[in-house]
Amino acid sequence: MRVHNGLNFMNRIRTILATIAALAILGVVGAAGFIWVGFYNVGATRQHLQPVYSVLEFAMHRSVRLHALNIDTPPLEDEAMVRRGATCFDANCVQCHGAPGVAQDDIGKSMQPLPGPLVDATQNFHPRELYWITRHGIRLSGMPAWEFRLTDGEIWDVVAFLRRLPMLTPQAYPEMARPQLAAFPCGRDVNIAAMRAPDVPRAKQALYQYACSACHTIPGVTSSFPNVGPPLAGLASRTLIAGTLPNTQDNMVIWLRGPNKVKPHTAMPDLRVTQEDAADMAAYLATLR
Ligand code: HEC
Ligand code: HEC
Repeated sequence: MRVHNGLNFMNRIRTILATIAALAILGVVGAAGFIWVGFYNVGATRQHLQPVYSVLEFAMHRSVRLHALNIDTPPLEDEAMVRRGATCFDANCVQCHGAPGVAQDDIGKSMQPLPGPLVDATQNFHPRELYWITRHGIRLSGMPAWEFRLTDGEIWDVVAFLRRLPMLTPQAYPEMARPQLAAFPCGRDVNIAAMRAPDVPRAKQALYQYACSACHTIPGVTSSFPNVGPPLAGLASRTLIAGTLPNTQDNMVIWLRGPNKVKPHTAMPDLRVTQEDAADMAAYLATLR
């Protein structure tokens, strides 16, 4: 009797497992079919459903919270910092987020999800979280990463300014943000010399943050395998860069920082690559045999 019951139990478990497996396979086939037929509408004129949007937003908040946990926040009260942050914000953020009395540009209005005014950002995020978001961007949303565009100090300046934003009237904003533009140019100094050893993980990041992978297929960098520029696989084995310069790391830096200076009318644009980022990328490209 005991043995019989045991067998029954085993059979039941087997049936349950087989059913779960069949359902899982059905689910995968169903999802694949849904994707293959093209049912999902990727148009930006279609909003996310409210529950989907709420889940995505919640996931974003939780992710930001975790990833920013160990960042030390510097003092943010310095008035000069706030003012520098205001010019940085006006130059880089207003087109999508708007400002007191300033609507976002058409780019910002046409995005899905819609970037909101950041006047309430400090209610929702700790300063270190605002720093993290600004530095790394938000994947799948259109919020750009500024790590390769602004210095670390400038990102904190912007955060210091975001704390001031809720107190600014539409009259006060332009007074704070605009006249200083000339006095405090905002953006990484592209001429800072490389002071450190090349950083390979950062190089891979730079290769997509400078949009290289939009034109080149590059080993180790995710892309849609574009055919605009030549594939960079095997680059280290080539004798010349773009058929013009002897292929050394120093020459690669020269090419990356000014392709049109090396080869007038080349289709590869000047991407305003800093010395330090070019050195990182050159070191990585030199490993592609
Ligand atoms: C190209 C458009 C664009 C630009 C430029 C831009 N952002 Fe964003 N930003 C977005 C989008 C899209 C989101 C996501 C909105 C969402 O998920 O609801 C976002 C979200 C954010 C958030 C999270 C706030 C929230 O309520 O979701 C912060 C903080 C932020 N951006 C700061 C900045 C700063 C600072 C700058 C300038 C250095 C900037 N952004 C420039 C598009 C942009
Ligand atoms: C808009 C498209 C585009 C972007 C963006 C771009 N490139 Fe290019 N790249 C090209 C084209 C086109 C060529 C061929 C140029 C020529 O021979 O005149 C080229 C040539 C090169 C070469 C020489 C290849 C060889 O076989 O000799 C290297 C190396 C290179 N690019 C690296 C980069 C890196 C690194 C970046 C990012 C900083 C980048 N490219 C961004 C289009 C692009």
